[in-house]
Amino acid sequence: MALLLWLGLSLLACVHSTAVKNCHPGCLCEVESFGLFDSFSLTRVECRGFGPGSTMPIPIPLDTTHLDLSSNAMGPLSDTMLAGPGYTTLVSLDLSSNHITRVSPNAFSKLRYLETLDLSQNNLESLPPSCFTGLPLTEVDLSHNSFQEFYLDVFAAKVNGEPVHVDLSYNKLVSLSMTLHGKVLHVQSLNLTANRMSSVPKLAGLPLRYLNLDGNPITCIQEGTFAQLKDLVYLSISGLQELQEIEAQSFRGLQSLQVLDLSNNPKLSTLNPAVFNGLDSLQELNLSGSGVTFLPSNMLTYLPSIKSITLGRNIRCWRTQKQGQFHRQLGQVQHDEVLNCNVEGIVL
Ligand SMILES: *[C@@H]1O[C@H](CO)[C@@H](O)[C@H](O)[C@H]1NC(C)=O
Ligand SMILES: *[C@@H]1O[C@H](CO)[C@@H](O)[C@H](O)[C@H]1NC(C)=O
Repeated sequence: MALLLWLGLSLLACVHSTAVKNCHPGCLCEVESFGLFDSFSLTRVECRGFGPGSTMPIPIPLDTTHLDLSSNAMGPLSDTMLAGPGYTTLVSLDLSSNHITRVSPNAFSKLRYLETLDLSQNNLESLPPSCFTGLPLTEVDLSHNSFQEFYLDVFAAKVNGEPVHVDLSYNKLVSLSMTLHGKVLHVQSLNLTANRMSSVPKLAGLPLRYLNLDGNPITCIQEGTFAQLKDLVYLSISGLQELQEIEAQSFRGLQSLQVLDLSNNPKLSTLNPAVFNGLDSLQELNLSGSGVTFLPSNMLTYLPSIKSITLGRNIRCWRTQKQGQFHRQLGQVQHDEVLNCNVEGIVL
């Protein structure tokens, strides 16, 4: 019995790759089989560097799940370029570095199982509003393109309620908008690093858990800016050369936030403790490389869950429990929580 069980388990764990018939010359194809009697398999196909003028769609084996078509100088994506046999089963598609300037409205419409789409390193300025309709996308990389404005509604017609992670870093975004009209946009993670936004875009209504605003020309963060992002866990506002002020109550409403990165904001020199109002779950605060050099002693009353604060160069502060004086009359020890830093004179 034990032997049979062992046999079964080792069969289950067995993963092996085999060569693929019908692999287009110039592509690399690989099948990974696993499961009992190889009941599951993934076909990975890599067709790179074909250059302009190659016939699209490039033929791929039926049942291909992962396709890398990066660096093929594809140019504008037409409705037929991704409509060949084998494309309908794709779960993951890499179209990065292809000089894509335009996407026609039905370019992706055959990709009914597509979860991961990489369109990074292209020249996109816009997307047709319904180009993702019916796709079960969970990860979309649009970084290093030329978007100046972006309508998040493009993710409204996703076929399922799975959360989607969107990378829009390294674009030219000055605005980001959406018209919800009762729809739900399942955008859970949004990376807006290195864009041209001069204020935090309005993101109320998104179930965001991760937001990155690094390297934008934002000068001031205003009261209530993040008020409706109650699911946000991680917020990064780092490397803002022009950020001078964060108003009191700016982070109000971020009741789930655990990590706040405010590092490398050189013009940010003072922080009113009331800035931190409402950050009841915050565990980590990073102020390193900012102009903030000391912390008010009542910081812990504003940040009840904080574990560590970083500031200056390699200055770390931790919450520690200090044993209070022994009260003879009461016969008990009082515990006091204090911030303890590895450098003296930080907490005033
Ligand atoms: C956001 O974008 C930056 C720059 O492209 C990258 O370094 C970072 O890993 C991204 N974050 C996530 C969660 O994808
Ligand atoms: C704080 O930010 C700096 C600069 O971005 C980074 O190097 C450091 O690792 C961060 N520290 C923590 C504790 O996250």
